[in-house]
Amino acid sequence: MRLAVPKEHDADERRVALVPEVVRKLSGRGIEVAVERGAGERALISDAAFEEAGAVIIDAAEVWKSDVVIAIAPPQPQQIASMNEGAVLIGFLAPLTSAPTAAAARDAKVTAFAMEAIPRISRAQAIDALSSQSNVAGYEAVIIAAEELTRFFPMLMTAAGTIPPAKVLVLGAGVAGLQALATARRLGAVVTGYDVRPEVAEQVESLGASFLDLGIEASGEGGYARELSDEEHAAQQQALNEAITGFDVVITTALVPGRPAPKLISAAAVEGMRAGSVIVDLAGESGGNCELTVAGEKTIIDGVTVLSPLNLPAQMPEHSSQLYARNVLALLDLMISDGEEGAATTLAPDFEDEIISGSCIAKSGEIVHPGAKAAVEGAAGA
Ligand code: NAI
Repeated sequence: MRLAVPKEHDADERRVALVPEVVRKLSGRGIEVAVERGAGERALISDAAFEEAGAVIIDAAEVWKSDVVIAIAPPQPQQIASMNEGAVLIGFLAPLTSAPTAAAARDAKVTAFAMEAIPRISRAQAIDALSSQSNVAGYEAVIIAAEELTRFFPMLMTAAGTIPPAKVLVLGAGVAGLQALATARRLGAVVTGYDVRPEVAEQVESLGASFLDLGIEASGEGGYARELSDEEHAAQQQALNEAITGFDVVITTALVPGRPAPKLISAAAVEGMRAGSVIVDLAGESGGNCELTVAGEKTIIDGVTVLSPLNLPAQMPEHSSQLYARNVLALLDLMISDGEEGAATTLAPDFEDEIISGSCIAKSGEIVHPGAKAAVEGAAGA
């Protein structure tokens, strides 16, 4: 069985799907690991380092003829189309938003697993790549905010007098939000977290942050929030308009999977903020949590800076690649069948396992993931 890693096609994607540490473990189990020439370059991992770990270096065309392909971002449809029938593809395949990816896997009769669709259950924690990458994003968001802010984060008592600490509010206390709270606090800010799932209040407080309670509760399924009704949304915006005024930095991470990002910060709320305040909106890709967010851009409105950085994990490629590769290894561990003595190692995914079935988006020429199916049908009807 040959397992291959392509060079990511987007020039801004600096991560690579496997790292030498994980290649070594797979090679040790008798799996042939192949890496496209230069695939690790942007993460500062040389071809020689991969070879030293036991990988062979191959050209792009060979990657797509391998039994298993491990990527990060969705490969281009023509790359998937060139895969062999029955081959396995693993990556962030954007099942809810990238119809061409799922459709290409269906047409090529490839078995495709989307890392985003790994169920968020305890047994799958080591496989949860959304979490490992959001951790990086939450950390980076704070570093960016600190860089942009014209003030200190920590309180300073100096001979020239005392500087008060920055006040940081984090909206959405999931993985990215909790890491943002922890990071801002480590830098010395006074931190507050907000979420519509009341169960996270305890986690927010355990990080030394205060929990902002606006009296709106919207826990949904699978550890996610549900979308708010129009009335709830209006009440939330009203309450946030008032609450936000006193903060120097607001980091927003609110997400409801497959839906446009909830708009938490209105233009009026931004107007009410002090000049020099900074908003870092992590939800730019799904429309932004702030009304004034322009995806991927930096916007300054009356002295308030609104930043919408995209693909932050790619800016820290060493650790984000390492964490992703470990997530993939944990998934492969569920699928690898070591065979009897001397028998070849194969992938034998057990589709009775909810982690395997939940993350599979296409198999044997069919789209098997409801969200991906809806996306493909929606695109065909559009
Ligand atoms: P998550 O699902 O762990 O957390 C999202 C949180 O938002 C949940 O706790 C949820 O309860 C909360 N939420 C949902 N609706 C809300 C509302 N109306 N008001 C307040 N809170 C609400 O997601 P994760 O992994 O932490 O990702 C957060 C966001 O960061 C997502 O939008 C994701 O796409 C984005 N992200 C952005 C990156 C970037 O580079 N810009 C990189 C990684 C993630």
